[in-house]
Amino acid sequence: MPLGSGDDSWPVSAIHYGSPVIFTAKLTWRELKEWYSPAYREQHGTPLTRRAAHTDNRVLPMGRRCGHQLYASAPGGNPVTSALMPTYVRADLAFERGDGAYLFTADGHRYLDFASGIGVTLLGHNHPQLVAALKNQADRIWHCSNVFQIPEQQRLAERLVARSFADTVFFCNSGAEAVECAIKLVRKFSDHAGAPQRTRIIAFEGAFHGRTLATIATGGQAKHLAGFGPPVPGFDHVPFGNIDAVAKAIGDETAGILIEPIQGEGGVRSADPAFLRDLRDLADTHGLLLVFDEVQCGMGRTGHFFAHERAGVVPDVLALAKGLGGGVPVGACLATRTAAAGMTPGSHGSTFGGNPLAMAVANAVLDVVLEDEFVDRVRVTSALLHDRLVELSRRFNEPIVEVRGVGLMLGLRIRGDSREMVAGLRKRGLLTVAAAENVIRLLPPLIIDESHVNEAMTVLEDAFRSGRL
Ligand SMILES: Cc1ncc(COP(=O)(O)O)c(C=O)c1O
Repeated sequence: MPLGSGDDSWPVSAIHYGSPVIFTAKLTWRELKEWYSPAYREQHGTPLTRRAAHTDNRVLPMGRRCGHQLYASAPGGNPVTSALMPTYVRADLAFERGDGAYLFTADGHRYLDFASGIGVTLLGHNHPQLVAALKNQADRIWHCSNVFQIPEQQRLAERLVARSFADTVFFCNSGAEAVECAIKLVRKFSDHAGAPQRTRIIAFEGAFHGRTLATIATGGQAKHLAGFGPPVPGFDHVPFGNIDAVAKAIGDETAGILIEPIQGEGGVRSADPAFLRDLRDLADTHGLLLVFDEVQCGMGRTGHFFAHERAGVVPDVLALAKGLGGGVPVGACLATRTAAAGMTPGSHGSTFGGNPLAMAVANAVLDVVLEDEFVDRVRVTSALLHDRLVELSRRFNEPIVEVRGVGLMLGLRIRGDSREMVAGLRKRGLLTVAAAENVIRLLPPLIIDESHVNEAMTVLEDAFRSGRL
């Protein structure tokens, strides 16, 4: 039953999210409506508006300019009916094998993969160097824990350090863990510097940093926080790209600023290079750590090894994952020596993080991405894809609102529901990913060439021409 229709005694979990208050509640639908009534407003003086009654998508925008949002979900609305916990909305499609930029089903259907498992299979499927590295390592040692020296891990860390602003690296298993490490590092930095009260981090509206308790609080999206109780405290959210709002949000307890140089899930929104430079200046002025989440946009995807290189700005801390393992779960938190000063023995850890198997594959990924001219080739291919998408958007300027993104992290903002469009393209043999703001995200493997661009464009053109995605 859709929320809000029918019985007023229907129980809902609600989370009111907005600056400066965040709270959750269990209440009935009748109470929820009451809360957001003019009478309630009068009594409590909140900026909530009557638009709250608008509930179809379950996200209730409340005086958006103030950043207020209410999200309500009905417990028990999605019963567990399978051995798999139903946390994902999955397409009715399974793949048997992959080869380069293609995926194949058991019955032989071929798909051009411009999704890359949400930006993970950086070098496509079944890349011979990665397969060889995995097989070679599989015959030697898989796991021994961080109680021992792991030469493959040492080597990967040294290579990342040599290629970046960083002096030191912590390895984990996912993007959320990499960001979690960055958050802990920022707090520990303050503590180590004798300012333990400085724990707050400024983050950005529309951000996505993962699904752990801390990273959903960092992302600050009501739809991810709803139902999970009090959010982890310590995050202040400001509009993406608004330097005045960042400056205003800095207080005595602020320890850092955390940003995706290009928001992925948020709709392929690129931060202006000047904005990133201004963040660096603010961080330096106030003694804050600047953290970049390059989980999605790093590892050559933008045509630079790191997305921030395009802006000529370096962070103090950086979260990396996705493409780093080329399909094997790996995450990394890179930091300067100064920023990592508090990360002493015993302060953080991971059983699996940096195990020999994952490290062998990640080293093989680096072998390819750090080859001479690899990222230059990404720039050439991405310019071609970008130009063709712009051309497409001119021809179909009714359904296509905008072409966004950098390198091979591109987005088509459309009128209509991008999830439906992504499903329609999938039926035509092209895999893409939906993102916020009705964006169709294109995250192809970095090994694509002109022939793959042509093939994708043919599918997109056919789809837009038919008007029936
Ligand atoms: C920018 C960014 N940060 C963090 C994450 C979380 O990564 P993971 O799903 O590997 O935990 C994602 C995942 O999409 C991401 O795009």
